[in-house]
Amino acid sequence: MKVIYPGSFDPVTYGHLDIIERSSKKFDKVIIAILNNKSKKNLFTIEERVRLLKETTKQFPNVEIDTFSGLLTSYVKEKGCSTVIRGLRAVSDFEYEMQMALVNRKTYPEMETIFMVSRAEYVFLSSSIVKEIASFGGKVTCFVPKVVEEALANKFKGGF
Ligand code: PNS
Repeated sequence: MKVIYPGSFDPVTYGHLDIIERSSKKFDKVIIAILNNKSKKNLFTIEERVRLLKETTKQFPNVEIDTFSGLLTSYVKEKGCSTVIRGLRAVSDFEYEMQMALVNRKTYPEMETIFMVSRAEYVFLSSSIVKEIASFGGKVTCFVPKVVEEALANKFKGGF
């Protein structure tokens, strides 16, 4: 079965990579779909996010990196797929995830959203928290791979 793992990945963290690794073992193919909506304020450009994901997932042969803009349901249909994976950390994620899954099912009734529960050690982890720590010069070594840490250091080199 082919599944799509959509997100902003701004930037990719060990939390995302855990979901990617576990999905790659359960499914034949995992397409990581990075959202490229102009209205979203991201720290990293779409090209940078693609590069970081490519570098950090190259050990998984059945994982492909792609980008999309507009509606997730349109993209998923276009890809000939009907299953989406999302990671669930805490109860705080649940409301938003439930809303998205239900809205998406309204526009694409065949679409299923599968939730994968995050590993306990990554429950607190988010791209936003990593960006905040890095922006103040804090160490993010245990939250993101080295390439991402370097990319963050580069972004914040000139100060905040
Ligand atoms: O990593 P994120 O930011 O939690 O991912 C959110 C994402 C990209 C899955 C979501 O914002 C999305 O699917 N956006 C595309 C626009 C869309 O389809 N919106 C309707 C769903 S409620």
